[in-house]
Amino acid sequence: MTMAKARIAVVGAGLMGHGIAQVFALAGHEVTITDSVVGSLDSAKTRILTNLKDLGDDQSAVERVRPCADLAEAVRNADYVVEAVSEDLALKQKLFGEIERHVRTDTILASNTSVIPITQIMQGLQERSRALGTHWWNPPYLVPLVEVIETQWTSPRAVAWTMELHAAAGKKPAHVKKDVPGFIGNRLQHALWREAIALVEHGICDAETVDTVIKASFGRRLAVLGPLENADLVGTDLTLAIHNTVLPDIERRPGPSPYLERLVADRKLGFKSGEGFRRWSAQDQAALRARVLQHLKKARASDA
Ligand SMILES: NC(=O)c1ccc[n+]([C@@H]2O[C@H](COP(=O)([O-])OP(=O)(O)OC[C@H]3O[C@@H](n4cnc5c(N)ncnc54)[C@H](O)[C@@H]3O)[C@@H](O)[C@H]2O)c1
Repeated sequence: MTMAKARIAVVGAGLMGHGIAQVFALAGHEVTITDSVVGSLDSAKTRILTNLKDLGDDQSAVERVRPCADLAEAVRNADYVVEAVSEDLALKQKLFGEIERHVRTDTILASNTSVIPITQIMQGLQERSRALGTHWWNPPYLVPLVEVIETQWTSPRAVAWTMELHAAAGKKPAHVKKDVPGFIGNRLQHALWREAIALVEHGICDAETVDTVIKASFGRRLAVLGPLENADLVGTDLTLAIHNTVLPDIERRPGPSPYLERLVADRKLGFKSGEGFRRWSAQDQAALRARVLQHLKKARASDA
């Protein structure tokens, strides 16, 4: 199979699936997309076209996307299948079992699960060496990272091919060498969230202040200065001294914060209920979503 023009099948045409199809089509690949919900499949090309227009990308890319209601037909000639259906282990296992019956033995199979171990999803396959995880971030056409997760069975060839496929499509693939919960990005993100919640729980500051501190300080640098680059920049000796003082005091409970559990029990669910750590009017929500989108678009433009 050639890398320049691969046949790609995307299973699941929701928030992530249509965006993943868009990225591959824009990179010149032929893409089939399937979904069990007719409405979701029918609107996929319209959603992709709207995104392409909004981003100023080549709108003819949408012509390389072929919606296909039948799973077997959608995956039959694929070199690469990526699954982006709902986050449900039994559903994903069942789908991959079915997909495997219709593809070549060397077709690479990827799951875009957020948190389910790839090993569990792929364990029932006949040919597990071609199966791996590809964890995209939302929106797929604006956030560069795709974590490529290998299991104990994945062949080096499947990893290398997938890394190259995503790099050639303009993504930043990161190789995750062991299938650990949360992969790399979500482990780092949620280590930070645990401490953020603890600061509020222990009355050190309110939720808005936590976010202000991050956004106005190291958050400003994070896109260009990762923590380990930063540690080298200030010195590993200084990092060690800081850790000796601070780490004993940082939150390290192995489960979720009772503060978070209380919010959920009180149905303070964030945007969807109008209140979570903070209160959110409809205007606040729209403004925050718009700010994030604008920021990501600017970052993409400056990458180009
Ligand atoms: N939303 C995110 O920010 C994000 C980020 C990274 C990874 N993910 C993961 O990506 C996957 C998809 O998430 P999403 O946010 O796009 O969800 P979504 O609900 O927007 O889309 C899921 C789609 O799967 C379809 N579907 C369900 N069962 C199906 C089946 N049997 N066959 C074909 N299609 C089926 C649904 O109709 C729906 O269109 C999940 O595993 C999720 O955890 C999501």
